[in-house]
Amino acid sequence: MNNRLEAIAGPLLDWYDVNKRTLPWRGDRDPYRILVSEVMLQQTRVAAVIPYYLRWMEALPTVEALAAADGERLMKLWQGLGYYSRARNLQRAAKVVMETCGGRFPETREALLRLPGVGDYTAGAVASIAFGQRVPAVDGNVLRVAARITGDDGDILETQVRRRFREQVAEAVPADRPGEFNQALMDLGATVCLPNGSPDCGGCPLAALCEARRLGRQENLPVRRRKAARRQEELTVYLLLREGRVALRRRAEDGLLAGLWEFPHVQGRLDDGAAAGPLDAWGLRALEWQKRLTARHIFTHVEWHMTGYLLRAAGEGTGLTWADRAELETLAVPSAFGKFLEAARQALDGEAGT
Ligand code: ADE
Repeated sequence: MNNRLEAIAGPLLDWYDVNKRTLPWRGDRDPYRILVSEVMLQQTRVAAVIPYYLRWMEALPTVEALAAADGERLMKLWQGLGYYSRARNLQRAAKVVMETCGGRFPETREALLRLPGVGDYTAGAVASIAFGQRVPAVDGNVLRVAARITGDDGDILETQVRRRFREQVAEAVPADRPGEFNQALMDLGATVCLPNGSPDCGGCPLAALCEARRLGRQENLPVRRRKAARRQEELTVYLLLREGRVALRRRAEDGLLAGLWEFPHVQGRLDDGAAAGPLDAWGLRALEWQKRLTARHIFTHVEWHMTGYLLRAAGEGTGLTWADRAELETLAVPSAFGKFLEAARQALDGEAGT
């Protein structure tokens, strides 16, 4: 079948030479730095990634440093980026590179795929950008561009359709500048061929080649079948203060937000009258209820609706860790609890000031 994408490399790379974004991991062919940037970018926007990337590289400048790093420190460096298994897998990959590859990164897509947490997209990005291999790196941005250029209205949530796009993009990667071609497609998707019906076709170097534009279908492509609704969960969260400290506990080692720190909570929404109920189980009693707060957090498959209580308490605190103001900053508490974390900081600061 005629592949429209085979004509895009020339105009796309000319556009990229003038319009490429200046990003801290660009102009660099160190596979470690490329891998870290690509893993951070997997589910997070470029602007949000930049400060994390810079901080990470300062703390852990080499694959060797990452392999040897303390797990808690990694979680702290990742705090706020979400999808924390990415950080753990990065470290597992670094250990594989150190222990079984003699500290040298594998250079082909197939070998990179064997590293923990490295899937098709990431392997393609590292192989092409760091090692100049002629392989594609197809993420959501690239799928959108490919669907529009080809005018293909297959559902991109279907594996088979994604494979079709991937094969067509693979044929279009030029042998002389594969890494730049892949990044050019990402930049085009991120700055010109925008989602949600607002592409800037006037500024697009590929407009003349674009089937969606010819048909006036830019706003309907790519096609995505409706996703299953997220599960809705109610939680009651406790900000328990005791002698200048706040109670936290560690989450289980598997599942959502594995191994991170959280404020103790119970399932369900307990209103004012019922909120004292769970304290017994922690061997605590309330001394003074100070504040009630609500917050919501949206994950990929679940949405949390949280009611939080800030109170002073006395008693044992079975299963809880009591952190003072300084210790609180050393623990990785995920953004889902961000509003409560801020309230806890203020409460501890307030107590210190009185
Ligand atoms: N998104 C994911 N990887 C990227 C990269 N290398 N450049 C720009 N955007 C990206």
